[in-house]
Amino acid sequence: MRPTPRASVWGFFMEIVSNSKEMQDLALRWREEGRKIVLVPTMGFFHQGHLSLMEHGRTLGDRLVVSLFVNPAQFGPTEDLQRYPRDLDRDAALAREKGVDVLFTPTPEQMYPEGYQTYVEVEKLSQGLCGASRPGHFRGVATVVLKLFNLVQPHAAIFGEKDYQQLMVIRRLTADLNLPIGIVGCPIVREPDGLAMSSRNTYLSPEERAAALSLSYALKGAQKLAAAGEKSGEKILELVRKIIPRVPHTRIDYLALVHPETLEEVETLQGEARLALAVWVGDTRLIDNASIPEARYTCCV
Ligand code: PAJ
Repeated sequence: MRPTPRASVWGFFMEIVSNSKEMQDLALRWREEGRKIVLVPTMGFFHQGHLSLMEHGRTLGDRLVVSLFVNPAQFGPTEDLQRYPRDLDRDAALAREKGVDVLFTPTPEQMYPEGYQTYVEVEKLSQGLCGASRPGHFRGVATVVLKLFNLVQPHAAIFGEKDYQQLMVIRRLTADLNLPIGIVGCPIVREPDGLAMSSRNTYLSPEERAAALSLSYALKGAQKLAAAGEKSGEKILELVRKIIPRVPHTRIDYLALVHPETLEEVETLQGEARLALAVWVGDTRLIDNASIPEARYTCCV
């Protein structure tokens, strides 16, 4: 039997586990020992957004697992699965620095062996926004996340608000299937100029990188309009529709003001709403979102 890795707050003892059965055995043993397991699911190519989830995860339990798996089931046939950026050595070094105990790196063959045919669908929440532009995407996300939950047996799992609809889908999945797992959402980490960090930002040329600023700029504008008292959803969307297309290389994929939990469209602002958008910048599709009006909290919830 392999030894249980020691708590690795200094990053010396991180293990890379690529075998699913080995991961599950280790997790079950930790459970027997009374350890509190925290999972951060990722597709790798870490940036500060991922690292902020790991930092928070470190404070929530005594065994921190980060999964790194570029999940084929959530990519459409014409999407960027093949070109998705990958750098395991760099990711492992960053995770080690963050005190991760296990970097779990299963292979597609292990996650979806021949004959695989079971998928999870979170019906209504998966339909709008990114779900409308990327049919089958959230089915792939929900399926892989449930599989990761079964393999890592976490008490808590951490997700970023950057993928806001994803966070809502996972919360619903966890509630609907009675999973004893706390789902923790963490705020969006941005570059100093406001661009939401994303592994896909590496696709952008210098001109596109400048154009990509229009997303956060438009969201800020909408927050200001709401702070000035505007309650009409249409007026808020109109402002964003004016700002983004003026910037070269951009094309709005979708834009919506939605209820923060049901993701149903909001016509008139009452409480808090989410402004969510996806914009093509050149050949790269970027997403961003913000609370309208601006939320007051700044830490993970
Ligand atoms: P990935 O895009 O690698 O993101 C992993 C986690 O990091 C997600 O919870 C995402 O919301 C969060 N994240 C990404 N950019 C962030 C930012 N700028 N600030 C804060 N958090 C950020 O999301 C996925 O992978 C996959 O869909 C996954 C859940 C792993 C399932 O395959």
